[in-house]
Amino acid sequence: MRILSGIQPSGKLHIGNYFGMMKPALELQEQGEAFLFIADYHAMTTVSNADQLRQGVRDVALDFLACGLNPEKTAFYRQSDVPEVTELTWLLSVITPMGLLERCHSYKDKLAKGIAPTHGLFSYPVLMAADILAVQSDIVPVGRDQKQHVEVTRDLAIKFNLAYGETFKVPEPSIRESVAVVPGVDGQKMSKSYNNTIELFAPEKETKKKFMRVVTDSRTLEEPKVPEECNVFALYRLFATDAQREEMAARYRAGGLGYGTVKAAAFELMMETFAPFRKKREELEKNTDYVEEVLRKGAARARDEARRTLKTARRAVGLE
Ligand code: ADP
Ligand code: TRP
Repeated sequence: MRILSGIQPSGKLHIGNYFGMMKPALELQEQGEAFLFIADYHAMTTVSNADQLRQGVRDVALDFLACGLNPEKTAFYRQSDVPEVTELTWLLSVITPMGLLERCHSYKDKLAKGIAPTHGLFSYPVLMAADILAVQSDIVPVGRDQKQHVEVTRDLAIKFNLAYGETFKVPEPSIRESVAVVPGVDGQKMSKSYNNTIELFAPEKETKKKFMRVVTDSRTLEEPKVPEECNVFALYRLFATDAQREEMAARYRAGGLGYGTVKAAAFELMMETFAPFRKKREELEKNTDYVEEVLRKGAARARDEARRTLKTARRAVGLE
């Protein structure tokens, strides 16, 4: 089984990214042949500063390696080191119906946030399809907001195969429904673009402040509370064991528990969970040659697959 996912280097990674995409993808690396990449071509749809893009790529590389990416098992690479995906994007573009892209929520959401409506932003899902189809991935672990893009990929693979003959494997999205949407400190979906994130590797003090700022309802300390409706509980449960989660839920329902207590507990659990990752990240920061080497080897592996796929696709359409 082949597994592929990617993430944009467009800002500091946060716990929504971690639980929605990184952790599931890192767990899947044990179950098959995994490909994970840093989507720098995609990030160019929103990042127009060269230094910021370079810094973003470096941060994502460190974050993934610190959080347990095993470069022996997973081909970890920069998207732009596999330029075959851009050629494949064109081969897919010419069969992509405008309507399919016009229906994509992500494009509309980004316009609503004030991002410039460029051709690149609009055709973004076709580049994403090329990423996935280039390595003939079976499974694509993503958060719920990316499901539609994987469906677009499936449509394009099926359409291409019908038009030109069997060329691409049709991939399946893999979504953890239990953590499909991690709330941000304001209760909306946690997202780099909403300024409501809890970053994975921010200084401890800053992280604590973020937890303390998470919005809650105005029930008093004595009142019984509803864990299922509480943003703080939604964050706490991500880090808690089943037993801890049940115990905390019972304390909510019983009353006499203040939100401040839960916020502090959630923060402590996050720090505990991330302590080994923080240590690893500090070590990696001093060893940039190693990080570069991992990305170089990963790209060679992915490029091998992409070249093979592109060759078949070029033949199928009549370019060779
Ligand atoms: P952001 O919204 O912060 O810009 P991206 O859109 O770059 O995040 O998403 C990267 C990956 O992380 C995707 O697979 C996405 O589904 C997942 N993800 C992002 N935010 C969340 C969240 N709040 N809850 C769950 N998964 C998320
Ligand atoms: N669009 C994804 C996001 O914003 C990133 C991405 C690009 C991706 N190409 C991909 C994810 C291929 C999975 C597979 O999160």
